[in-house]
Amino acid sequence: MTTFPAFQPPTRLLMGPGPSNVAPSVLKAMAAPLLGHLDPVFVKMMDEIKVMLRQVFLTKNEMTFPVSGTGSAGMEFCCVNLIEPGDEVIVGINGVFGGRMADVAERCGARVTKVEAPWGRIIEAQQIADALQKVSRPKLVAVVHAETSTGALTPVEEIARLARQAGALMLLDTVTSLGGCPVRLDDWGIDAVYSGTQKCLSCPPGLSPVSLSPRALEVATKRKTKVQSWYLDVNLLSSYWGEQRAYHHTAPISMNYALHEALRLVLEEGLENRWRRHEQNHLALRKGLNDLGLGIASQEGHQLWQLNAVTVPNGADEAGVRQRLLKDWSIEIGAGLGPMKGKIWRIGLMGATSSPENVEKVLGALRVCLGVR
Ligand SMILES: Cc1ncc(COP(=O)(O)O)c(C=O)c1O
Repeated sequence: MTTFPAFQPPTRLLMGPGPSNVAPSVLKAMAAPLLGHLDPVFVKMMDEIKVMLRQVFLTKNEMTFPVSGTGSAGMEFCCVNLIEPGDEVIVGINGVFGGRMADVAERCGARVTKVEAPWGRIIEAQQIADALQKVSRPKLVAVVHAETSTGALTPVEEIARLARQAGALMLLDTVTSLGGCPVRLDDWGIDAVYSGTQKCLSCPPGLSPVSLSPRALEVATKRKTKVQSWYLDVNLLSSYWGEQRAYHHTAPISMNYALHEALRLVLEEGLENRWRRHEQNHLALRKGLNDLGLGIASQEGHQLWQLNAVTVPNGADEAGVRQRLLKDWSIEIGAGLGPMKGKIWRIGLMGATSSPENVEKVLGALRVCLGVR
C-alpha cells in the first residue's frame, strides 16, 4: 500500500488568468459542517445566493443561479438549452473562448457563422451587423465579454441591440468580467449569461453563475426537442433551484457556502467600488510596466482591467521569467495561448488579488527578472 502525507499546498500569489486569491472568510466558509442539499437551512442559503447573484449581474431575471461545474459548464448550459439542431448561431471569435463557444454550439447541432477578429482586438458591432444580414433566421448571437486569452473587452451593448432587432437572443460569456468591470444584464438587453466563480468573484473554481431572461427561458421551455444534456437541462434544474425543491443532483454544498460568502463580500464592497479598484490597479500596473519598458498587447482603449496581456520584450526568456516568479516569489502569472503563445505574459489582477501591494510585488519581481535598473 502506498500512502502519502496530507497535502500541504504552498501559499501562492495568484496573478494569472484565474483562479485568483480567495479571502480567508471564503476558505473558512468551505470548512463549515455539511448540510443536506434539501435541508431547509441550506435551501434558505440557496435563495440568498440567487438574490445576491441578481444584484451582481444587475438583473431581475428569476432564472439566475449557479450551475454545478466550472465556467465551461455554464457555457454548455446556455448552449444546450437555447440551441436546437439546425438553428443559426453567430459567434464572435477573438480568442480561445469564442472558439470554444463555437465548438459547443456546433456540438448542439447549430449552423454556426463565425465572426472573427485578430487576437487582442475586439469584435466590432458592425461585424455582427454584417453577419446578421447574411443569416436568414438567426437564433442566437454569442460573444465573450472579457477575452481572458487576449486581455480585450468587447463592448456588447450595441451588439445586443442588433441581436434583438434581428429577433435573436444575445448570449454573453462573463467568466472574467463579472465582479471586475461593469456587467449590466438588463440595461444591455442580455438574454443568457454565464460566469465562473474563480476570477473576479474570488471564490474557488467549481460553480458557474448563470442567468436567463424571460425571453430565453421561454425558448428553453418551448423547445421541439429534448435538451441533449440531462445534467444541464434548465427544465429539470429549475425544479431544484425554484419553488419545488425537487431532487435533481446533489448540489456541491461547500462550494455554495463559498459562493455565498464571496458574493456577500462583493456586495459589501459595492459593485462600483469594486470596478473602480480593478481599474485603478490596472492603471498602476500599466504605468509600472511602462517604466520597465513593457507594453500591453491588446487593443488600446479596450484593455481589460483584470487581465493584462503584457508583451514579452525581445530577447527575454518568456517561460524562464514565469518559472522564476513562481520559484523565487511564489507569484503565478500566465502564459500566452494560441497565436500569442511565447509573445505575452498574462498578469491577472482579479478580485482579492487586485491590490496596490500586489501590483508593486509583481513589478518589483519583473524588474529583477528582466535586469532593469
Ligand atoms: C472567458 C472565459 N470563458 C470560459 C472559461 C472557462 O471556464 P472554466 O475554466 O472555469 O471552465 C474561461 C476560463 O478561463 C474564460 O476565461
